[in-house]
Amino acid sequence: MDSIHIQGGVALQGKVRIQGSKNAALPVLAATLLTGDGSLIRNCPRIADVYAMVSLLKELGCSVYWQEKGLFIDSSTVRREEICSDAVTGMRSSLCLLGALIGRCGEVVMEHPGGCVIGRRPIDLHLTALEQMGVEFREKGAKLLAKADRLCGAHIILPFPSVGATENVVLAAVLAEGDTVLEGAALEPEIAALCQYLQCCGAEIDGVGTGQLVIRSGRKLYGTEFAIPADRIVAGTYLFGCIGAGGSVFLEDAPWEDMGAVLELAEHMGGRLYTSQEGVYVQAPNRPLAVDCIRTAPHPGFPTDLQSVALSVAAVAEGQSMIRETIFENRFRVVEDLRRMGARIEEQGVDVVRVHGVSKLHSAEVEARELRGGAALVVAGLMAQGETVVTGCQYINRGYENICRDFRELGARVTSA
Ligand code: EPZ
Repeated sequence: MDSIHIQGGVALQGKVRIQGSKNAALPVLAATLLTGDGSLIRNCPRIADVYAMVSLLKELGCSVYWQEKGLFIDSSTVRREEICSDAVTGMRSSLCLLGALIGRCGEVVMEHPGGCVIGRRPIDLHLTALEQMGVEFREKGAKLLAKADRLCGAHIILPFPSVGATENVVLAAVLAEGDTVLEGAALEPEIAALCQYLQCCGAEIDGVGTGQLVIRSGRKLYGTEFAIPADRIVAGTYLFGCIGAGGSVFLEDAPWEDMGAVLELAEHMGGRLYTSQEGVYVQAPNRPLAVDCIRTAPHPGFPTDLQSVALSVAAVAEGQSMIRETIFENRFRVVEDLRRMGARIEEQGVDVVRVHGVSKLHSAEVEARELRGGAALVVAGLMAQGETVVTGCQYINRGYENICRDFRELGARVTSA
């Protein structure tokens, strides 16, 4: 799929099931390395980042294959510490292999995980935390070498609730000698999912869901069967797609308990939401309302991964909105493409934009430059008059199983070419 074609101006109607969470699946797949056993991961999303992780696990010697019920990984045959593959340099999410391989093998050689268009993506918090557990790091050209003769539990305080750093500490700590206390841990639901998988494997972790995790040592881990939770960012994408395009939709399996800030913003924009055990029913306003300030923040704040999608909807809202991005330093790349569709957006410094809502966007040929900006352009196409063409779909495929199929199930006129 190279491009997505959207005939905009169609109100959404219908129901769609929300896929498994990319950002929960990736650390769980890395964690299977710690068991030296077989695990069946159900509801694992079939997306490019998962396929890349699967190829890395195979490169390490795991046997991995898709079954009817999910993805089966047997890590009893892991033979190599060196991950030396394009997937690593191009994929940030492989960084969680660092903690898992340190835990399993005591050493790892990997390409420095690259940054991306949304930011430099430094890893200082990961390195500082793991050094406290006895890991020594060296750089050799573009490679990162890590080695721990003895991996020891430690009392670690994260100065910022980094999702990835939290995951790497948990992954390294479960097989370390001695307990680990992690303060300032990230609160994103994906951390809880990782801890729950590890608990199913036999790990003892206290404080799950809080900012202080205690990972007990000395537990033998075994393979298990585990279901990946639904993706809150995919659910939020479709929810705001309806708020902007109009209509009413049902998002089956949407993890609304983990979407408080998202539901709150959707209601501020005029949406009416009805939650149930099965998911979320969304009724859109005739036209979205502007919001004084949308500010991204670590969970439970408004997620940075939905900032671009919210920006698309604010572009057609009644009134002026301001959006402040506090997590990544370059997450307004989508602005130039939204302007080509008629959006009136003023950049005020590097982390704030002011949006003057227009009644209609018009179609254009636009380009996705990263995952969530790409999704935001598809949402903008739903609201625009005429046919919008979104290229650069390889970015969107990293996180969405099939955004065209899903929006078609909601009544949108979307095709891929
Ligand atoms: C995870 O990235 C997610 N990726 C991101 O989703 C998400 O946007 C982010 O968490 C925040 O929620 C995965 O889970 C695979 P961080 P991560 O470490 O772990 C700075 C998507 O679209 N930082 O919480 O990289 C960093 O530069 C992706 O699905 C350091 O300075 O996020 C950023 O400004 C995009 N030093 C901030 O912290 C470090 O050592 C948040 O980073 C680590 C991070």
